[in-house]
Amino acid sequence: MSSRATLFALLLALAACATQAAEPIVIKFSHVVVPDTPKGKAAEYFKKLAEERSRGRVRVEVYAAGQLYQDRTEMEALRLGAVHMLAPSLAKFGPLGVHAFELFDLPYIFPNLETLHRVMDGEVGARLFAMLAERGVKGLAYWDNGFKQMSANTPLRRVEDFQGLKMRIQSSRVIEAQMRTLGAQPRVMAFSDAHEALRQGVVDGTENPLSNLATQRMHEVQKHLTLSDHGYLGYAVIVNKAFWESLPADLRAILEGAMHSATVYERGIAQEENDAALARVKAAGTTQIYVLPYKDRVIWQQALLPVHRAFEDKIGRDLLQAVYRVAAEVEKERAARPDAATPKDKPGPVRPRPARR
Ligand code: LMR
Repeated sequence: MSSRATLFALLLALAACATQAAEPIVIKFSHVVVPDTPKGKAAEYFKKLAEERSRGRVRVEVYAAGQLYQDRTEMEALRLGAVHMLAPSLAKFGPLGVHAFELFDLPYIFPNLETLHRVMDGEVGARLFAMLAERGVKGLAYWDNGFKQMSANTPLRRVEDFQGLKMRIQSSRVIEAQMRTLGAQPRVMAFSDAHEALRQGVVDGTENPLSNLATQRMHEVQKHLTLSDHGYLGYAVIVNKAFWESLPADLRAILEGAMHSATVYERGIAQEENDAALARVKAAGTTQIYVLPYKDRVIWQQALLPVHRAFEDKIGRDLLQAVYRVAAEVEKERAARPDAATPKDKPGPVRPRPARR
């Protein structure tokens, strides 16, 4: 080969290498809600930051509204590496064998968001993520949605109003127990099927934060909505651990930074999205809205206390005690603040019976 031909071949090879190096790493991020929700918006924001800050070294493909995987299939797809990133609600970790996440589903366990965030960002949140690591999954962040509200085609004011109602729920044993304790018949159903099941009367009612209720147009097929704040729905952003560890360390650091910024953004908009959703539901005029008064919340709370006791051992007594401790700490700090006012509109933290042993 002449020296010119050799040089040409070398240049071609270099060009091919350069093209290969420029090929971005694809991160497939799948979730089940529509883009116009706190989770949907934050997923897009993470994509933007990750692509910008990595200068194109990654491409994040966000698949919203269950278009790639739905509740029943997404965890398995993550473990197999068919999708890299998910943000399931904390109620959906049972299929992965980590039921301890269901502590977030316990009725009235979080008297305020401050307690919730301290729990997520502290020892309890870290211990839950450590449990995931044993199953090949890495937890990156906790995202908010908000407190859940009850809806049905009949008014839900007293505990007795739930008697015999078929209620769509997420796949959580705690939520199942919550509905049974209220006298309802829980029906586990994928999020994507909930609207249609309500419309056809396969189920009578459901529970969800307002942004989910409104973006799924569930209010159009539910005559009554009770603002009960009886439980919490949030998310864990998770990745396939082997995939994550295969990324160059500097890129992982960039992605962790982008995830941190997306988390701050997500937690900042979640409550606003729920407030805006309430305004939309009111404006639609399809649903009668009832604010559960404080005295009745206390009755609901007392009626649901047995659910806490029933799950003490299943979730882990020490994890639950850690949550109650944080709740008491926050309550004490709040009371000591100079501007402290008695929160008449919210029941205090759930106080379970002293541990039996
Ligand atoms: C539900 O299934 O009701 C929620 O978990 C959906 C979601 O991801 O917010």
